[in-house]
Amino acid sequence: MNDRFRAWQVSENDQGEFRGRVVEREVEELPSGEVLVQVQYSCLNYKDALSAGGNRGVTRNYPHTPGIDAAGIVVESADERLQPGQPVIASGYDLGMNTSGAFAGMIRTPARWVLPLPDGLSARESMIIGTAGFTAAQCVEKLIHNGLEAGQGPVLVTGATGGVGILAVALLAKLGFAITASTGKAQSHELLRSLGAAEIIDRNILSEDNPRPLLKGQWAAAVDVVGGKTLGNVLKGLQYGGSVACCGLVESPEFPATVFPFILRAANLLGIDSAEAPPEVKSALWKRLATDWKPAGLERIATEISLDQLGPSLNAVRNGQALGRFLLKL
Ligand SMILES: NC(=O)c1ccc[n+]([C@@H]2O[C@H](COP(=O)([O-])OP(=O)(O)OC[C@H]3O[C@@H](n4cnc5c(N)ncnc54)[C@H](OP(=O)(O)O)[C@@H]3O)[C@@H](O)[C@H]2O)c1
Repeated sequence: MNDRFRAWQVSENDQGEFRGRVVEREVEELPSGEVLVQVQYSCLNYKDALSAGGNRGVTRNYPHTPGIDAAGIVVESADERLQPGQPVIASGYDLGMNTSGAFAGMIRTPARWVLPLPDGLSARESMIIGTAGFTAAQCVEKLIHNGLEAGQGPVLVTGATGGVGILAVALLAKLGFAITASTGKAQSHELLRSLGAAEIIDRNILSEDNPRPLLKGQWAAAVDVVGGKTLGNVLKGLQYGGSVACCGLVESPEFPATVFPFILRAANLLGIDSAEAPPEVKSALWKRLATDWKPAGLERIATEISLDQLGPSLNAVRNGQALGRFLLKL
């Protein structure tokens, strides 16, 4: 085993600015943990962009290597479930937050954070999906659990060209739902339609100030990554008994709301967290993503980058300009 590896490291300079660059690191510098993994692929998530930008709510101490998702090969393991040479996914929990992350040739983590790569999924495909796709699947699973069925009406997806959004569109299309995609990117309409969106709306319509307590009940359900006024309007625009899976905050963590959608339309606001989901829950959902829920068109939504291209790609994610998924090849 080579004890040295390349990693992307974010540091804070004297002016309080955060800059990332490629460095050489040693395996012995990695945190303690039961499993050492050689990373083959990672991917970019919104949380990585926050960590790389110095957001102390995500990462307290710098220098730091972000990267909340990894697919790779076990090099060393103190857990009999995971054997050297085995392909695995490591994702979520504290990986890439305050534990050195997957924008690196190697990671070392607790065994609980590592899952065998499910049959039916390559390492590359697993990182095109990544936490974004896993979260999209959690949203869809919870909406179905709360009564969503195909034929009830359109399912709205906000932030539809971002990581969670685009994989929600692809998964909902695979499951036969009618989809309305909300996006700010005019150039993405063709791609969204090719993935299965029947209707596309401009995201500015959803983020308008609107004092009315309820809007026309249009959507059977929604996957919302945006929060803010958008989430407030989505709640008001649900059909009777409809649900919104709330998983993100790209517009704002705060949202305006009254009780009217809940007490007059029986609306449901469903919370989604991917990072701390128990390993058995993660394992079961990843198996679905490898089989009957495997989204079509994964390569079409992926842009492969190297460690040297991380800076501009993370900026694109931070500024809401990313179209689909950045796949990082180590
Ligand atoms: N709860 C969880 O476990 C979990 C897991 C993963 C992600 N998340 C959260 O989900 C959100 C999306 O993550 P992601 O990885 O999909 O991020 P992403 O790839 O950056 O996508 C976000 C998308 O939101 C849209 N957008 C950007 N700024 C906006 C604004 N001001 N108002 C409305 N829409 C805007 C853009 O799409 P359009 O141009 O198409 O509108 C953008 O591409 C983030 O807040 C992230 O923290 C939560």
